[in-house]
Amino acid sequence: MYSFKEKYGEYLASFEARLKKFYDELECKPAILDESLKYSLKSGGKRVRPVLMLASAELVGAKNCGIEDYALALELIHTYSLIHDDLPEMDNDDFRRGRPSNHKVYGAGNAVLAGDGLLNTAYYTLFERCADGKLYADAAKFMCDCAGVKGMIAGQSADLYCSEKNIKDGDMLDYIVKNKTGKLISAAVAVPAILAGGRYFLELRQFGEDLGRLFQLVDDILDEEGSFKNLGKTSGKDKQENKLTYVTFYGTDQCRVYADIMFDRCLRMLDGIEGDTSFMRDIVAFVRYREN
Ligand code: IPE
Ligand code: IPE
Ligand code: MG
Ligand code: MG
Ligand code: MG
Repeated sequence: MYSFKEKYGEYLASFEARLKKFYDELECKPAILDESLKYSLKSGGKRVRPVLMLASAELVGAKNCGIEDYALALELIHTYSLIHDDLPEMDNDDFRRGRPSNHKVYGAGNAVLAGDGLLNTAYYTLFERCADGKLYADAAKFMCDCAGVKGMIAGQSADLYCSEKNIKDGDMLDYIVKNKTGKLISAAVAVPAILAGGRYFLELRQFGEDLGRLFQLVDDILDEEGSFKNLGKTSGKDKQENKLTYVTFYGTDQCRVYADIMFDRCLRMLDGIEGDTSFMRDIVAFVRYREN
């Protein structure tokens, strides 16, 4: 019988196997580069993006397309974004994934380089797949777009800008979230659609953006109400850093209403997709009700 926990565990295990191969193959000099690169990856995290990608690949029938490489690239990009996000010049966070942030251990200079190294290695991994054909290259290009100056980086830039200029604006807030969080989650579910020849690409891309909104709503609520013990990162930071977030803009009660609306929208999007969507539905609930 199907169990969400078991299925998550299966996807996680196949992703961790790919990650282990990456660790084994990567030997950087000097040792501090090797160590700082692996430190943040080995601290764990939910791995929700690679899990989503493997699940989406199974749903659209893109399982044997080297999807683990795309999942690896995505988690490397996500982890680099967290290392840079925590820097004193950005969110100034001392803890991440239950451990001191990368820059607290290795210093800001090495943390910048560890992030750069992860991003660069992600692109190397994607380039290696491009030789397999046009769909593989299209999928890689889409992921770069999602991570780049029209995607995650644009969202992070707007996030910083609004905090520095004290901007409180609903359209800006949506722009921030759609890009800083929505784009990588969209990549997780839409890259397999590209590899499957475009099957459900538009639906999954939209699903990813809405799931990103739901993800950030919960992240912002947890920043307000969660504990360090559960989160593995310091709570209460968004207000302290004058961030434009769902909570600072709408308040937590309104955020919960908005989260329920996004939750329903994600499920409705899945109604239009053929095949067994049980795991995708359950992961939407996982994102809605998570405590870390
Ligand atoms: C945190 O992402 C950054 C946001 C986009 C809100 P996650 O909550 O997925 O972080 P990890 O990977 O589990 O540590
Ligand atoms: C971070 O959003 C999004 C990215 C790193 C791209 P947050 O700044 O809210 O994430 P946390 O709360 O530090 O994990
Ligand atoms: Mg941030
Ligand atoms: Mg942050
Ligand atoms: Mg946050």
